[in-house]
Amino acid sequence: MFSLLKYAKKYRVQIILGPIFKFLEAVFELLLPIFMAKLIDEGINNKDSSTTIKMALAMFVMTLIGLVCVLICQYFSSIASQGFGTELRNEMMRKINSFSHVEINEYGTSTLITRITNDINQLQLALAMLIRLVVRAPFLSIGSIVMAFIINPKIAWIFVITLPLFSILLFFIMKKTVPLYKKVQEKLDSLNLVVNENLSGVRVIRAFAKKDEEAKKVASVTDDLAISYKTVANISALLNPITTLIMNGAIIFLLYIGGNQVNIGGMKQGEVLALINYMTQMLLALIVVANLVVIFTRAFASANRVNEIFNTEPSVTDLVDQSASWKKENEVLKFSNVGFKYTEKSGYTLKDINFSLKQGETLGIIGPTGSGKSALIQLIPRFYNINKGSLKINNKNIIDYTLEVLRDHIAVVPQNSVLFTGTIRSNLLWGKENATDDECWKALEIAQCADFVKSLPEGLDYKVLAGGKNFSGGQKQRIAIARALIKNPNILILDDSLSALDYKTDLNLRNALNNSMKETTLIIVSQRISSVRSADKILVLNDGKQDGFNNHENLLQISKTYNAIAKSQIEKEEL
Ligand SMILES: Nc1ncnc2c1ncn2[C@@H]1O[C@H](COP(=O)(O)OP(=O)(O)OP(=O)(O)O)[C@@H](O)[C@H]1O
Ligand SMILES: [Mg+2]
Repeated sequence: MFSLLKYAKKYRVQIILGPIFKFLEAVFELLLPIFMAKLIDEGINNKDSSTTIKMALAMFVMTLIGLVCVLICQYFSSIASQGFGTELRNEMMRKINSFSHVEINEYGTSTLITRITNDINQLQLALAMLIRLVVRAPFLSIGSIVMAFIINPKIAWIFVITLPLFSILLFFIMKKTVPLYKKVQEKLDSLNLVVNENLSGVRVIRAFAKKDEEAKKVASVTDDLAISYKTVANISALLNPITTLIMNGAIIFLLYIGGNQVNIGGMKQGEVLALINYMTQMLLALIVVANLVVIFTRAFASANRVNEIFNTEPSVTDLVDQSASWKKENEVLKFSNVGFKYTEKSGYTLKDINFSLKQGETLGIIGPTGSGKSALIQLIPRFYNINKGSLKINNKNIIDYTLEVLRDHIAVVPQNSVLFTGTIRSNLLWGKENATDDECWKALEIAQCADFVKSLPEGLDYKVLAGGKNFSGGQKQRIAIARALIKNPNILILDDSLSALDYKTDLNLRNALNNSMKETTLIIVSQRISSVRSADKILVLNDGKQDGFNNHENLLQISKTYNAIAKSQIEKEEL
């Protein structure tokens, strides 16, 4: 946990000064009962009004200074803990951004969200409490005992008995609750997962009339969480009555013995009151210590979860000696015996892929669903590393390029394109930061959606809602294609991006691409024969294996898979 404190380095001053001010306040708080005892014993009882006023004034000033100290400490702790949280969150986001698809798949988004929100909140709280209470609480509990001994060593033994009694009680309660808090944290994770899936899949849930079942699923997870919280709360609730009982018992004992002492003249009234004050102070400080332990255990669990992210090394990263620049060669892409597996467990998704492509050519990739088309194209911008064989781009090994160079020259329109909240223009600018309006319109023109955008009231400034929900599937696909085009990539990959388009628009789009981007090597993944038949080369995949690499006419003869797909679709079209 403490390794994370390096993110609070900037707030060193606040982290050191905060507890010092709180300590000052605690010193005043510890001295107050002594002044009160004097006020009663020497002022009121002796009818000495000047001492009474002096003491009252001193108490007032001390309280005032104490208040200022507390305010300063709270201020420092807010600045430090909020700053620490912000720093941690930014750093974690940077780390997650460096992850490749492998790590993102492994963690899943919901736990990443819980970690960056809830877990970091816990850590932030722990730092705030560290500044505010870690010095104060133990100081006050020990200080109270010391003061009791100073006032009357004969009675102070009541403190010495109460302290361990109380500590044992706290220990047992915490022993029960702390592991439960850890469980609560894990359950929060699963609640997040279920709620996340439910909200993002709300349309599907309605379409399948699964509302009741899904509501039950959420209810069962929330019930589960509620039960854990209740158990913790029930045990923690015991803390209050039992501590009050012990506290009041100790006070009655103090009053009894103290009263007797006053009667025989061994003690003064004010001193008894001061002792009672110290007793409450000590026990309250101990309760705070117990709460601190809970906060820190939770923070400890959170720190582990945050550290897990920080300690995960992205599997696809830049290596030290990658100096290859992008230089166009006749042969732009060459797969030799490429094998690929998503995870060790999943086995090979792609086996022995062999083909090459010339600059400016168009490649079609076709194959049944699950045959590895998306897997294959994700290897080209190095979203994943290959596991076997070699993959060359412009005659250089893919590993010789930095990720930045690769992704600057290769654009991918993924199967499920995502538009970001903002406007159409802000989405297009993802492709090129400083693109002019003309460039935006040209890209939209090629992507066959200029007419559609023109018809919108605000044109390029039309609002895009989260996930592009205010657009149809085909509109989203075309804007996503325009976003990729604006980058003017050397290799453009469309992963089933034409699937939501009608045949005519699909054809127009491909023609526009061929006419206006002659230099670009185009890779079109599709389930439709019509989308790939005019490509220079077509790669046929079946169950992760290559079942032909040729043009349409030849493939009809040599590839069983291609022939079968063609037959099924041509029949359909004729119908
Ligand atoms: N993240 C992943 N981890 C493990 N296996 C995966 C992962 N993604 C896909 N797969 C598996 O890899 C195989 C190939 O998937 P891929 O997405 O490449 O198919 P595809 O040809 O693009 O299919 P579609 O036409 O439906 O898009 C499938 O069997 C799939 O179950
Ligand atoms: Mg796919």
